[in-house]
Order: sequence, then structure tokens, then C-alpha cells
Amino acid sequence: MIKLKSFSSFFVANWKLNGNFKFIDQFISNISLPGDKSKCIVICPTSIHLDYLSRKKTGFYLGAQNISQFKDGAFTGEISADSLQDLNVNFCIIGHSERRKIFYEKDEEIKFKAENLINNNIIPIICVGETLEEKEKGITNEILKKQLKNSVPSSSNSDNTLIAYEPIWAIGTGLTPTTKEIDNTHIFIREHDPKFNKFKILYGGSVKTKNVKEITFLLNVDCVLIGGTSLKLDEFANIIQD
Ligand code: PGA
Repeated sequence: MIKLKSFSSFFVANWKLNGNFKFIDQFISNISLPGDKSKCIVICPTSIHLDYLSRKKTGFYLGAQNISQFKDGAFTGEISADSLQDLNVNFCIIGHSERRKIFYEKDEEIKFKAENLINNNIIPIICVGETLEEKEKGITNEILKKQLKNSVPSSSNSDNTLIAYEPIWAIGTGLTPTTKEIDNTHIFIREHDPKFNKFKILYGGSVKTKNVKEITFLLNVDCVLIGGTSLKLDEFANIIQD
């Protein structure tokens, strides 16, 4: 397992259901990675493109976007944590709100996924976040507490797991919480339970060139998870270079 402690910041690109060989070739030939090796750049293509990207990668790490909650067996169409290890995958996003909402993933399932990843020396990036309705009701912290309690396994610690706070209403919408709200929520995640005191916490949801500096500058934000903007190669290159 790679050593999370050796990095000062993380930039995780979630390509979602986008990209193909041509896009990956363009990415590899155009991307200029930061000289600062304490910045950890993680690229998460579709599962089908992990192998292609893995053969070309230099200077960045590879992440998957999901895995099966099962280790092996009769589960047609699933991808195991064990098979990701064969491709030198170091990270895997789990519990993304799109998976929770569109594919009805539950906290319990996400917990099994995290356990499988840790057992295979892959860092789970466990996503949590509230809906707009929950935010408006003022129950964001309550929702996050429940998600963290039920989806983070007891084997998780600050050396083997990353947490991503992604307000669902900010994903792909161009909307973001204020920097004060982001900072406060990260403080809540870190302080509501001593287990999370030392965890590194990413922020995700409409991160762009124009707001990335003010977000990463926050004391309690260790890193960012970037969706749409990670597909715009010039913009992504700017973000990781700065
Ligand atoms: P976005 O997506 O940057 O396009 O809002 C973030 C994510 O889904 O992780």
C-alpha cells in the first residue's frame, strides 16, 4: 500500500463514464505533472481503461471508480479488489453519490468494499455528502455522521483510507458551499469521532480553476476530487501545476 503520509496534497481525477484510448493518448502526451512529488495525482478512468492507462502511466497513480463488495465467486459482471491489485491500482473511489443514488448502494455495501480494498493494499476513497434538501433542513452533520459510522470499516485508519466530502448538490452543478462551510464540515468530520482525527479529507463538487486555490488553501482540506474539470486537460493541468 502506498504511504499516504508521504503526500502533502491529493488531486483525484474522476473521469466517470468518459474517455477512450484516443483521450488517454492525448492525456499522456499533453499532461505535465508537477515537479513537487509531495503532490499525489490520481487518475480514475473507467474500469475498462485501467489496464491501458496503467501501461502508460508515469508520475501519477491509478484509481478505480468502484469495485464489487464480494471477494470472488458467482457474481457476473463484477470487478474484484483482488483484480485491481493485478493492474497496480493504488486507489479506488467508493460510495460516490452517483452510485448511492443511481445504483442504490447502501452504507453496509460500501463498508464491505472498503474492507476488500484495504485487504488488497488499495486505498479506498470513501465518499459522503448531503442532498440539497438535507442541507436546507440543517441536518448535514447528522447525515455525514451516519454515513461515516456505517460505511467506514473498523479496519480503516488515516494510513489506509481517504474520506471525500462531496455535497451531492454541488456535483456537476457549478454550485459549491462557501469556503467557511467546507472548512467547518471538514472540521466536523475530523472531530465528531476521535477515529477520524488524523484522516485526510478531500473536498469534491464543482472544483474548477477559479475556485481550487481558495478550497485547497483551507486548513482542513487536504485535497480535491475533480469530476468534469479533470476531462478538460488544460484546466486540469493548471490545477495540478499551481
Ligand atoms: P464534479 O464531480 O467535479 O463534476 O462536480 C465531482 C465528483 O463527482 O466527484
